[in-house]
Amino acid sequence: MKRSFASDNNAAVHPNIMEAIVNANTEDYVSYGDDPYTEKAKQLFNEIFDTDTDVYFVFNGTGANVAAISHIIKPWQCIMSSSLSHIHNDECGAPEKFSGSKLITLPSVDGKITPDQLKPLLHSVGFEHHSQPGVISITQATEMGIVYQPHEIEAIARFAHENELYLHVDGARIANAVAHLGLSLSEIITLTGVDVISFGGTKNGLMMGESVVFLNPDLAKDFPYVRKQTMQLASKMRYISAQFIAHFKDNLWLQTASHANKMARLLADKIKDIPEIKITMPVHINAVFACVPREIIKPLQEKYFFYVWNHQNNEVRWMTHFNTTEQDIDDFVLTIRQLLNHS
Ligand SMILES: Cc1ncc(COP(=O)(O)O)c(C=O)c1O
Repeated sequence: MKRSFASDNNAAVHPNIMEAIVNANTEDYVSYGDDPYTEKAKQLFNEIFDTDTDVYFVFNGTGANVAAISHIIKPWQCIMSSSLSHIHNDECGAPEKFSGSKLITLPSVDGKITPDQLKPLLHSVGFEHHSQPGVISITQATEMGIVYQPHEIEAIARFAHENELYLHVDGARIANAVAHLGLSLSEIITLTGVDVISFGGTKNGLMMGESVVFLNPDLAKDFPYVRKQTMQLASKMRYISAQFIAHFKDNLWLQTASHANKMARLLADKIKDIPEIKITMPVHINAVFACVPREIIKPLQEKYFFYVWNHQNNEVRWMTHFNTTEQDIDDFVLTIRQLLNHS
């Protein structure tokens, strides 16, 4: 396959993760999570969140979002997210199908939302003809590669709790956000008042595996049944848990995310002075969004794999990952320059 700048999902499995899977592949263990790997991985989650969490391993990010949200919402309530959210655009309506709840989206350019945008939705409270506000879902980092500051999350959590709502975070790229902010996960998630987070692993070097982490353990009551009903209960759970143990060992998860972010920064630095290219979003994590001349897109895609984000303005999304090298960036930029007839 061509070198990919399309998605962090295209990366191979990190060798330490692969080794952890192989090492877990020795003898018989009880299935469905009653094994020592899962117990150890859960403890590690408590350490990185610096609180007692209730953690549930799942197969994928859509499953994490769907299970988490379905559990904390009632069918007559609505989920509120940005118009750019993965739960709105990229989950085939699964959050609505499984929760039975309406999803209401708020306009956003960078993927963030604010309490001021949410406030008008409260006018429905108590009016039986309207869906009742139930869950706010934000993405950290957003689908546009932008990171919420802790005070912004705190403001949304405060708004949620003052109005008897829950705050869910889609953390498919939480590691990249933590690496960008240079703060602890606790400062970004635990102390800001998040109720539940879909914690990503697959985009950051795992073979497959995500988790639903309840920061408010009371809220987790009966969640095992929801995980089962949403078909996210792995019988051979040890292979997901073992990956998370390796992920956290010696802070691998932050090293891989920092590297991915650094490669995107390098790419942005190397293209920012090319007059035909306009970077359209600040580069916080491992994504560079840019408008490029239409005529170079096809020939560049013949050599590299990436997506056009917006066909109307020729905006592309270039993503790096833990395995992207400086040489990859140099070669990619050289190809762009050649296509633009730069010497
Ligand atoms: C923001 C976000 N959330 C969740 C996911 C999880 O998706 P999947 O179900 O493919 O693991 C993705 C993957 O692209 C994502 O970008």
